[in-house]
Amino acid sequence: MNEKIITLNKRIEEKFKAIDQNPEVHLEGLVWAKPITYWDYIHTDALLNLQIQRSTEPDEMVFIMYHQINELLFKMMLWEIDQVATAEKITAPVFSDKLNRVSRYFDMLASSFSIMMEGMDVKQYLNFRNTLTPASGFQSAQYRLIEFASTDWINLIDRRFRENFDRNADYDNIYEHLYWQAAGKDHSTGKKTTLVRLFEERYKTTFLNKLKAYNHCNLWSKYKSLNEQERKNPDLVKAMRHYDKTVNITWVMAHYYAAEKYLESDGNTAEATGGSDWKKYMLPKYQRRIFFPELWSADELKNWGENV
Ligand code: HEM
Repeated sequence: MNEKIITLNKRIEEKFKAIDQNPEVHLEGLVWAKPITYWDYIHTDALLNLQIQRSTEPDEMVFIMYHQINELLFKMMLWEIDQVATAEKITAPVFSDKLNRVSRYFDMLASSFSIMMEGMDVKQYLNFRNTLTPASGFQSAQYRLIEFASTDWINLIDRRFRENFDRNADYDNIYEHLYWQAAGKDHSTGKKTTLVRLFEERYKTTFLNKLKAYNHCNLWSKYKSLNEQERKNPDLVKAMRHYDKTVNITWVMAHYYAAEKYLESDGNTAEATGGSDWKKYMLPKYQRRIFFPELWSADELKNWGENV
C-alpha cells in the first residue's frame, strides 16, 4: 500500500472512531455505493418538474421560470448573508467578499429584468394574469427576509412613522408598521387585503422570529461592529452603497417599468393582481427604503430615487 493510502486509512479510522462507528463497515459501504451522476446530484428531475402552468398561454412559462430563478438567487443571497450574520467576529475582507457575492446576485436580477419587460407577449400576459389573482410577487417571503437580514428594522418602517417610531416597540408592533403593510390595506376601512392576509397566515411567525434573529446581526449591524479603520475602507463603503442602490432603486425601477408596461398596456391603469395602489407604492422616492442611510450624503438622501 502506498504512503498516501496508508495516511488516508488512518484518517478514516480516526474520523469514524471519534463518532463510535466501525470504519470497516463504512469502507465496505464504499464498495457497494452507486457512482454519482450529474442528474442525481443536481436533482434535475425534481427541479424540472416544478413548472406548472395555470393557463393555456405559453408565455406563462417564462413568468413562472423567471420567478423561480429569482427565488433560487434569493436563497443564494440569504446563504451568504447568514454566514456574515452568524460569524463570531467578522473582518473587513470577509465582509466585503460576502457582500460582493450578494451584490452580484442582485445585479443579475436587476439587469435580467428585461426577461420580464421584453420577453412576454403583452396579450398573453394580460390573459394568464387573470388566473393568478390575488397572488403577487409581493408574497415572496425570501425577498422580505433579505430586507430583514440587510438592515436595522427601523429602516424598514413605513416612512410616515419612521422618525418618531418607538425604538422599544414590541415585534408585533414593528411588524404592523413595516413599509409593505401599506400595500395591503384598504385605507378607508383599515382592513387588510386578501394578499396580505394570506401572506401573514403563512409567514407571520417566521417573520417575527427572523426580525428578532437579525436584530443585532444584520448586514448593517455587522458593518457597525467593524473597527473604524475597516468601516472607512473605501472599497467596502462603495460595495455597501452599490448593494443598497441595486436593491432599493435599480431593481425596484426595473420592476416598476415592467409593471407599467403590462398593466398600462391597454391605455388604462390596470389593477395589480395583488390589488395595491402600485403606482405610488412601488416608487423609491415615496417608499424611501434605504438599508444604509448613514452611508449617503444629505443631498443623496434628499434625492433618493429621483431622476431614475
Ligand atoms: C411582468 C412582471 C411583473 C409585474 C407586472 C409585477 C407587478 C407587481 C405589482 C403591481 C406589485 C405591487 C403589489 C401588488 O401585486 O399589488 C408587485 C410587487 C412585487 N413583486 Fe412584482 N411584478 C412582476 C414581476 C416580478 C418578479 C419577476 C418578481 C421577483 C420575485 C417580483 C417580485 C415582487 C415583489 C418582491 C413585490 C413587492 C415589492 C415591494 O413590496 O416593494 N415581481 N409586482
